[in-house]
Amino acid sequence: MQSISILGSTGSVGKSTLDVIARHPERYQVAALTAHSNHALLLEQCQKYTPKLAVMVSESAAEKLQHSLQELGLSHIQVNSGVDALTQAATLGDSVMSAIVGAAGLVPTLDAVKAGKRVMIANKEPLVMTGGLFMAEAKKSGATVLPIDSEHNAIFQCMPFDQSKQGVRKLHLTASGGPFLGRKWNDLSGITPEQACAHPNWSMGQKISVDSATMMNKGLELIEATALFDIAAESVDVIVHPQSIIHSMVEYTDGSFLAQLGSPDMRIPIAHALSWPERINSGAKTLDITEIARLDFQKPDMQNMPCLALARWAATEGGALPIALNASNEVAVSAFLSQAIGFTDIPLVIERTMNEVVGQDTTDLVSILNIDNESRALAQAAIDSLR
Ligand SMILES: NC(=O)c1ccc[n+]([C@@H]2O[C@H](COP(=O)([O-])OP(=O)(O)OC[C@H]3O[C@@H](n4cnc5c(N)ncnc54)[C@H](OP(=O)(O)O)[C@@H]3O)[C@@H](O)[C@H]2O)c1
Repeated sequence: MQSISILGSTGSVGKSTLDVIARHPERYQVAALTAHSNHALLLEQCQKYTPKLAVMVSESAAEKLQHSLQELGLSHIQVNSGVDALTQAATLGDSVMSAIVGAAGLVPTLDAVKAGKRVMIANKEPLVMTGGLFMAEAKKSGATVLPIDSEHNAIFQCMPFDQSKQGVRKLHLTASGGPFLGRKWNDLSGITPEQACAHPNWSMGQKISVDSATMMNKGLELIEATALFDIAAESVDVIVHPQSIIHSMVEYTDGSFLAQLGSPDMRIPIAHALSWPERINSGAKTLDITEIARLDFQKPDMQNMPCLALARWAATEGGALPIALNASNEVAVSAFLSQAIGFTDIPLVIERTMNEVVGQDTTDLVSILNIDNESRALAQAAIDSLR
């Protein structure tokens, strides 16, 4: 029996994780669940999965949750609040699903890694921010890091079994191209948050949906791949593949390409990571390859994908740039979702932040968080100047 803590259980990945867990009660039990403020859904999840610990970052939401649990006779479920309690949840189970959105997941995910847990990483932003530092901590503690992002999970499955990179020439990250594939970037200034969040193949949280529409998601994934697989950015290609059936590929020196295929359903990489190195039923629809019949591929049109171009710059340059890119993107996406800036303003805010960031030291967590803070302030100033 494996006990699992889920950071961000009320989100899209968190809910899919619980769906897979519910299919295998003989293998998995829930140690801890966390959310930011959605106490109603966390209450439902506590009733169904009876974790030892439930954490809400919002204090008032935690009070409501505790009160409801008491009324239901479930006061044996401990309720804690605040960001520090996330670390308590992250270090409680045998395995941790890291599914908080954005930089907020950095500290608890890193704490799980330092505690030597089996850590399943959906939350890509911490890897983008810390790069090699994150994987070095995993090596030190003996933590097992398993990728959940469908592309990185696909690459993990196609790498040599010992993950040695022996004979690997290149990684090919596939991208659906998002809802605006084929459109000119300059024609997208009037795009609304609803339009940006309507992804053709995947159902996801708001932030990653906007990132997919700007192609920043692929840019973050490019940087994530360099950190996870310890490979240079030049050896990671992006290919547009609108059907989202091939989730990524590994190219070998002998000319072989290994690919992982499947329905676009996050329960597949989640089930893979939960059961690795075994296999379990994920609940996803079986792929009927004859029904799909054709798969298309094209080179990304970088002229019309400015966020991907900025991410490639950050991935190649390294240092403070990936941190500045990630932080300013979070600030810009949030401003776009609240309609403070337009869709095409997002890369303008990011580029200005990347050009102006001065912090350089990325050798430890405190320095990384300082650059993150500096970048958020620069991004906010850029947004203010656009209004
Ligand atoms: N969705 C996908 O298919 C998918 C695929 C690959 C990778 N990912 C990555 O997985 C991560 C989660 O994505 P998602 O789509 O599942 O996001 P989501 O649906 O927006 O869910 C985010 C979760 O994090 C919690 N949360 C939000 N802000 C927080 C904060 N400041 N502190 C602590 N918890 C916070 C939310 O709680 P509340 O509900 O209370 O707000 C919710 O449980 C992202 O990094 C994304 O890039 C997602």
